[in-house]
Amino acid sequence: MATRYSVADGVALIRLDNPPVNGLGHDTRVGIVTDLRRALAAPDVAAVVLTGGGGFFSAGADITEFGTPAATAEPTLSEVISALEDADKPVVAAIDGTCFGGGLELALGAHYRVVTAHSKIGLPEVKLGLVPGAGGTQRLPRVVEVATAIDMITGGAPRVAGRLAEVAGQRLFDKVVEHEVVAAAVEFAQEVASVRPLPRVRDLAAAGAAVDFDAVRAQLRKRGRGFLAPVAALDLVETAVTAEFAEGKAAESATFAELLSGSQSAAMRHAFFAERAARKIPGISRETGSRSVETVGVIGAGTMGGGIAMNFLGAGIPVRLLEMKSEPLEHGVGVIRRNYQAQVDKGKLTAAALEERMGLLAPTLEYQDLAGCDLVIEAVFEDMDVKRAVFGRLDEVLAPGAILASNTSTLDVDAIAAITSRPADVLGMHFFSPANVMPLLEVVRGKETADDVLATAMSIGQRVGKTAVVSGVCDGFIGNRMLAKYQDAAMTMLHAGATPAQIDSAIEGFGFAMGPFRMGDLAGLDIGWAIRKRRYAETPDTPRDEIADALCELGRFGQKTGGGWYDYEAGRRDAIVSPVVEEQLAAFHLEHGTQRQDFDPSEIVERLVFALVDEGARILEEGIALRSSDIDVVYLAGYGFPRHVGGPMFYADRVGAAAVVSALQRFHGPSWVPAPLLVRLAAEGGSFASA
Ligand code: NAI
Repeated sequence: MATRYSVADGVALIRLDNPPVNGLGHDTRVGIVTDLRRALAAPDVAAVVLTGGGGFFSAGADITEFGTPAATAEPTLSEVISALEDADKPVVAAIDGTCFGGGLELALGAHYRVVTAHSKIGLPEVKLGLVPGAGGTQRLPRVVEVATAIDMITGGAPRVAGRLAEVAGQRLFDKVVEHEVVAAAVEFAQEVASVRPLPRVRDLAAAGAAVDFDAVRAQLRKRGRGFLAPVAALDLVETAVTAEFAEGKAAESATFAELLSGSQSAAMRHAFFAERAARKIPGISRETGSRSVETVGVIGAGTMGGGIAMNFLGAGIPVRLLEMKSEPLEHGVGVIRRNYQAQVDKGKLTAAALEERMGLLAPTLEYQDLAGCDLVIEAVFEDMDVKRAVFGRLDEVLAPGAILASNTSTLDVDAIAAITSRPADVLGMHFFSPANVMPLLEVVRGKETADDVLATAMSIGQRVGKTAVVSGVCDGFIGNRMLAKYQDAAMTMLHAGATPAQIDSAIEGFGFAMGPFRMGDLAGLDIGWAIRKRRYAETPDTPRDEIADALCELGRFGQKTGGGWYDYEAGRRDAIVSPVVEEQLAAFHLEHGTQRQDFDPSEIVERLVFALVDEGARILEEGIALRSSDIDVVYLAGYGFPRHVGGPMFYADRVGAAAVVSALQRFHGPSWVPAPLLVRLAAEGGSFASA
């Protein structure tokens, strides 16, 4: 049984009992209506309390049920909610802990709600590309200000119950308590047992100040770049405000069904499960064990080291930060403090928390001070000689069993491990800039990395809130190795006659957060230029990146210099088409006998995204990535790939390998050889997901 039923002092208690999160699968739904019927038929029962347990009222629908017959088997969640709302004895929801999605919709079907102040309340369906499907879009705007309902339904972020309850005029909660929610709800139920008529949310009118729906819609469209669910959710809230409940409920059901069967929701559910799958590593289980990490060392207090340190400080883990000289050390510590201060200024962090975090930070110039660290992450200059010196010193001072990690982006982690006398304790932990903000962490497994070292790096990554993905050793690991091909494809288009603005706008229209040229301007074009100059010197016949080199020679390094691929006005980030770049492009075409031409945006998208897919296929076949969904996770968490498209490999599976191969051959000519795995999947009609 997924519910438990009991009666005391005239009140029936229905307790959801479907651990771990009280998901509203079929068994639970049957349990609720069965218990409710029993309560309504019992002469000694005057009121009903519905509650959860274990920190969950309910986290909502059971998403593993989606697409199976159980999802639509009666009673559906809407039917369960109607049964509660129609009941002729008062039903009180007693909410303690997580109350999300279908869980909140269920609570909105009750006549009254008693809640603990710390409970988390939300309708996160948009995060799966859906809208609430059991009345949430219709009932929530009837009990909180419409603007609040819009925010919660279109954004999906949870709210703290105590805060929601403070909003004047809210009718969501009838009573807020600190603890003992069931006892409070039972007492409340006894008080209201004979009050009639019973209050029903569906009979209320939506409340609050008028909202300019068109303005909000325009904003959501702009931000969503083709992501449908938030706009669909807004339309439904508007219906809740303007139409009868029944009409809104019918519209909600239709929208829910349409989104559920659409590609965006499938992509977002894929992303959800892909992130979970990324945590599992074949051959590694609980039995593998992991090492305890109490104190972390970070070497190098530059761009990356400072951000990396902040991750651990934020999780309450003491950090010893080492530099060679006091000047960069003081500078690095100052940047960390200023970053936290900016959060304090925005009200995102308290001044006390800032001091607490800074108190966990121990800056040092002495390797001896790292002796007690359980994990040390190196983020010094990208130079093998410098890394060699650092790892040599670490090997001398660290206790046996300590983990040695490098944040290198391009160097060979196996070669770094070989510097030490303990290669099994060495691995890569590749963070992304800004490291305190970007969620992605590539955990790079060397050929000798011990299983428990890998497991520890994955779990510490999760502990500091990162999305950790395992990568094998190769140039660029998963993310940057694919990115190089994507950037090559963008340059090829440029040479073939497209403009930066055309390319960026096509790929942004596909849903990417930023196109490759705007991204280059943000990151700084000087980094790539320095790498190219080194390569030109080492291998003189390396093909020149003429246009990019010319811009750098003009001192155009991107936003920070007021111009790169675009022009920028002082202090602004809006990319303006640049006459200087136009001139450079014209000169290039003149010299090479090529010319400007307009490409169909869909061709631009295919060229760039399929370049990712082709390299992803090689990465998968070489075993650098454990599974195709890991590649998707890397692109979603680290590169602004649109979540509603699911990731490059998921997208390729939807398009079909054969279509990808034929497009690649169309772009590159028939002699070009796509990734062997891609060719095989095309021939067999197979997919990356099952490869
Ligand atoms: P950075 O130049 O900003 O910082 C490096 C810091 O290391 C400097 O403060 C320097 O004083 C210090 N340092 C140099 N030699 C040292 C030594 N022997 N002992 C102690 N400290 C020393 O460089 P950044 O950008 O932070 O890069 C660091 C590492 O992170 C590199 O391996 C880089 O490839 C990698 N990385 C960089 C990313 C980025 O976007 N900047 C992204 C991911 C990885």
